[in-house]
Amino acid sequence: MQPFFAAFGLVLGTRLVAYISVYHTLNELEILNLAVAPEERRRGFGRRTLDMALQVARKMGIERAVLEVRAGNNPAISLYQSCGFVMEAVRPYYYSDTGEDALIYDCRLCPSSGTEYDNAKNYSR
Ligand SMILES: CC(C)(COP(=O)(O)OP(=O)(O)OC[C@H]1O[C@@H](n2cnc3c(N)ncnc32)[C@H](O)[C@@H]1OP(=O)(O)O)[C@@H](O)C(=O)NCCC(=O)NCCS
Repeated sequence: MQPFFAAFGLVLGTRLVAYISVYHTLNELEILNLAVAPEERRRGFGRRTLDMALQVARKMGIERAVLEVRAGNNPAISLYQSCGFVMEAVRPYYYSDTGEDALIYDCRLCPSSGTEYDNAKNYSR
């Protein structure tokens, strides 16, 4: 089945402060990218944006989310692990620019009644 592309953004006033892009099929969400504007990091926007995409996926009945991250990207790895992602595989020397390994993470998504999002971390401005 051809995957669908989707993207979600978090806007403050007129500024896009975070976004996430994904491919999805009927039962799998692949996270392509997640980024927060450098000056807005460590304010909970990354977690909030990721939570939003996972929540939508749950509501669509998608059961699994997967992603790939550079082995040296500690902020992203910490975020993904705290959101329930577990490392499933390593692709050694995957990134030709740095020679870093790619880590493949996987998260099982439980069907949602729509309440999990309330548990997402608060953020303040
Ligand atoms: C990874 C990224 C999206 C995190 O966004 P963020 O808004 O700064 O993250 P949050 O404030 O929501 O933090 C959520 C969790 O991420 C982890 N985290 C975020 N920044 C971190 C850092 N600099 N060092 C360690 N852990 C970090 C922590 O576990 C944090 O939870 P805590 O606040 O309870 O400690 C952001 O750093 C980014 O845009 N990086 C560049 C793009 C990128 O690497 N994307 C991932 C591609 S796979």
